[in-house]
Amino acid sequence: MSYKVASTSPQNVAVLVFPFASHPGSVLQFVRSISAMAPDMKFTFFSLSRSNSSLFSGSGFDNIKPYNIWDDEGFGAGNPLQQIELFLDRAACTFERAIEEAEAETGHKFGCLISDAFLWFAGDIAKKMHVPWVPIWMSGQRSLLAHIETDIIREKVGAPGQEDKPLDFLPDFSDEFRASDLPKEIVFGNLESPFARMLHKMGEKLLQATVVTINSFETMDLKVTAELKKRFNKLLLVGPLHIAQPVVSDDDRDGCLQWLDKHKPASVAYISFGSLGALPPIEVAALAEALEEGGFPFLWSFRGNKEDLPQGFVDRTSSIGKIVPWVNQVQILNHSSVGVCVTHCGWNSILESVTGGVPMIGRPDLADQKVNMRSVEVVWKICVRIEGGVFTKTGAIKALEQALLLEQGKEMRHRVGVLKQLAQEAVGPNGLSTQDLKALVEIIKS
Ligand SMILES: *[C@@H]1O[C@H](CO)[C@@H](O)[C@H](O)[C@H]1NC(C)=O
Ligand SMILES: *[C@@H]1O[C@H](CO)[C@@H](O)[C@H](O)[C@H]1NC(C)=O
Repeated sequence: MSYKVASTSPQNVAVLVFPFASHPGSVLQFVRSISAMAPDMKFTFFSLSRSNSSLFSGSGFDNIKPYNIWDDEGFGAGNPLQQIELFLDRAACTFERAIEEAEAETGHKFGCLISDAFLWFAGDIAKKMHVPWVPIWMSGQRSLLAHIETDIIREKVGAPGQEDKPLDFLPDFSDEFRASDLPKEIVFGNLESPFARMLHKMGEKLLQATVVTINSFETMDLKVTAELKKRFNKLLLVGPLHIAQPVVSDDDRDGCLQWLDKHKPASVAYISFGSLGALPPIEVAALAEALEEGGFPFLWSFRGNKEDLPQGFVDRTSSIGKIVPWVNQVQILNHSSVGVCVTHCGWNSILESVTGGVPMIGRPDLADQKVNMRSVEVVWKICVRIEGGVFTKTGAIKALEQALLLEQGKEMRHRVGVLKQLAQEAVGPNGLSTQDLKALVEIIKS
């Protein structure tokens, strides 16, 4: 009987968080998905206290305990990249110490280490602890493959001036993918920056992980998924996490849903450039002018400086537009009035557009955003690229017309509807993502 007792005893899992941008929320969603299938498991969520307090305010979770790894002092001052570099500089030993402290405090050893894939050194910590390492990659299959293949990419397109070189030497990347679509940490940027070194290390270390998990679903990108499976010990696709384990929220603090209710189906442009992102002032003005001149109804989740908007814009467009500081994006994109998502092409925004059945207009900036943009544009054909990659008034009007008024928009809507269906199937009772999540729970328990 003793083995039976052992197998039903709750498992202790350490979760190492990359405490910037949307990462903590996404990791928490992942942990909640596992926890829903394995209510006996206990998770310790190692992060900075500021992300701890925003994520765990309110009800909290019985079996997911936040653990602050160090005071935030010293993080407030610098720009986001400086903060990340400061964090990375100390992260490995700080996490390791925090894990030891937590084990000493509770008297329980951790049996598994989950981490944001960025935190490649978690593989070394897990090895010392003799426990499985389960990294989660928060973006799509294609950007992940690019990080695994970084050395080959640098060899083939390393020299400056090769920005236009097609990436067709990567499996299932057509010649429409260009070297300039890659994150600048892979080619052309400062490859010795702490962030670039972290991503390079990650590409190497993930090959040793017990299992690599990813917030995507297999049918979204079958061939690239198959390529990734050849490379990793094991790959499990557990997304889209926001529909696998939805966060129930009726927070509509600015009345956006009511406002959307008054509009025709698929007629509104929803605009957001992510939790960090803001457009350059000149593009804010160009996009605003395009909305006004074209008379497109719009809902703008606006993080920038309102002074960048043309003078009098807010008053003049009050009958067609709404500008708010924050929205519940999953809810907004799931509303039938939204006809297009104007986006920086962050992976979460892409997945949320897909599950809302909403085509996109892409204005990527950094990191994986350009590869994501190229994927939605040429692989799934559900995104309009803006001419020249930056907003001008005429370019923005053209893109908005294509997405909202012309046949091309209808076709994109149809294709995104097919993907939405696949996403829902994936997280359904017998779906592939559900099966992969079950397999993951078994690995953690064993
Ligand atoms: C994390 O934040 C929650 C909510 O604000 C707080 O109750 C808890 O004490 C914090 N945990 C730590 C370890 O600071
Ligand atoms: C989207 O809306 C439908 C009904 O209109 C609802 O069943 C579904 O749960 C919503 N999805 C999300 C992710 O909110």
